[in-house]
Amino acid sequence: VSSQQPIGIFDSGLGGLSVLREVWQQLPLESTVYIADQANLPYGTRPAGEIQALSEAIMRQLLRQKAKLVFVACNTASAAALDHLRSTFPDTAIVGMEPAVKPATAHTRSGVIGVLATGSTLQADRYASLVTRFARDTSIIPIAAPELVEIVEAGLAASEQCKILVRRILAKPLAQGMDTLVLGCTHFQFLKKTIRDVGGPELVIIDPNAAVAGQAGRVLAKRNLSAGKAANRYIKFQTTGNLALMHMRLLEMLGKEWDVSSVPGLTTNPTHPGRG
Ligand code: DGL
Repeated sequence: VSSQQPIGIFDSGLGGLSVLREVWQQLPLESTVYIADQANLPYGTRPAGEIQALSEAIMRQLLRQKAKLVFVACNTASAAALDHLRSTFPDTAIVGMEPAVKPATAHTRSGVIGVLATGSTLQADRYASLVTRFARDTSIIPIAAPELVEIVEAGLAASEQCKILVRRILAKPLAQGMDTLVLGCTHFQFLKKTIRDVGGPELVIIDPNAAVAGQAGRVLAKRNLSAGKAANRYIKFQTTGNLALMHMRLLEMLGKEWDVSSVPGLTTNPTHPGRG
């Protein structure tokens, strides 16, 4: 493994772009390959075994492209598949996401914290263990919102429809005194403004992205794998789904045109027909 190899980043779809932005910000010399497994989106309503198989297939694509570190920029895939990926690829550096429950407990005053994530993340053992470890004296409200993943994929994050949905989803937790909300799904980063509008200026929104990007930087530094120069830096985007659609979303969400190429994902696809 050499320091000039890229960081590989994947998500079921576009949510991981929020993590990618942070990686660019904190590690500007690094090349990146981003894969969106949009043919198999959503991950968040699937059983863990399927998410493991899908994540492994995408990780193999990243390793084929010489990723020196794989960033699982998806809470759902991290919750279901991080252990599986680490044992399948013991020599590869892997960084994942988890709901930032611990930081949330330091911020809450009311003692009521919401965790906005996919159903799969909220059912995972990893999540249960976070709650038992860090949230003894607080009340944690799990808020599953798979429909918000679809909203972001559809490019509707700024729509009135989205605001109505977010208002409906947060109404009860807010009425129960929630003053701190953990963004436990990378797609929801793109809903921050709407969440702020709905939750009001007092709501503390816990965003883990800066911390996990920092973590990736430390892992690289520790292995002596940090890129030393920008000279040959490159940025690649790939999807298992629809190229034109991804191209359009990248323009909307990153404010710039990027080439997108196709990459095969797992097609023997159990629970969902798959789209894309
Ligand atoms: N972006 C994924 C996450 O962070 C969820 C999207 C999906 O359900 O596929 O949890």
